[in-house]
Amino acid sequence: MDIFDVFRDRRSVRRYRDEPLERETIEEVLHAARLAPSWKNQQCWSFLVLTEAEKRLQATEALHEDNPGRKALAQAPVIILVCADPQLSGVEDGKEYYMADAATAFAHLCLAAHAKGLGTCWIGWFDEDRLKTQLGIPPHLRVIGLTPLGHPDQAPSPRPRKDLDQIAHFDIWRHQP
Ligand SMILES: Cc1cc2nc3c(=O)[nH]c(=O)nc-3n(C[C@H](O)[C@H](O)[C@H](O)COP(=O)(O)O)c2cc1C
Repeated sequence: MDIFDVFRDRRSVRRYRDEPLERETIEEVLHAARLAPSWKNQQCWSFLVLTEAEKRLQATEALHEDNPGRKALAQAPVIILVCADPQLSGVEDGKEYYMADAATAFAHLCLAAHAKGLGTCWIGWFDEDRLKTQLGIPPHLRVIGLTPLGHPDQAPSPRPRKDLDQIAHFDIWRHQP
């Protein structure tokens, strides 16, 4: 699959088939994440992969009932938590790069999964303290997000995106009203 097709066709998938994934498949997706660029190549990320039903339930329960991602987590055979160690990354001019590092790895993960015919859904609204306590994640790490991983049971329509001329400036910054 051409990389531009992957960018175009990836969606947030919130319904999954009840089919397990091979460990090798999960690792392929994680390998794509670990190749992401990062602050001074410090690779501040780490990933917690949940395959056991009880652990997945604990993760699901850390989401608010109103979060549409909750049902997705409840259905998927695998949940991946993307974590970051802020101490391993840098702060420059008030910008905390651990977020950028982890987000880049997360994006790689989601795109790689799509290229393999798998669905993901970045979830950023959850009770981080509860998740960390229940799953034994060290206190100094931040959980940047989590995603279900599995075979999609839906083909969501594309969500709208801003046009390029709204967001890209060539040579001169055009002031918008
Ligand atoms: C930082 C971030 C946090 C998100 N948090 C949630 C979430 O908590 N629950 C959810 O269902 N989707 C969440 N999403 C998914 C977005 O709603 C989704 O990416 C957006 O609507 C565009 O749709 P698409 O991914 O299908 O293109 C999140 C996405 C990002 C990047």
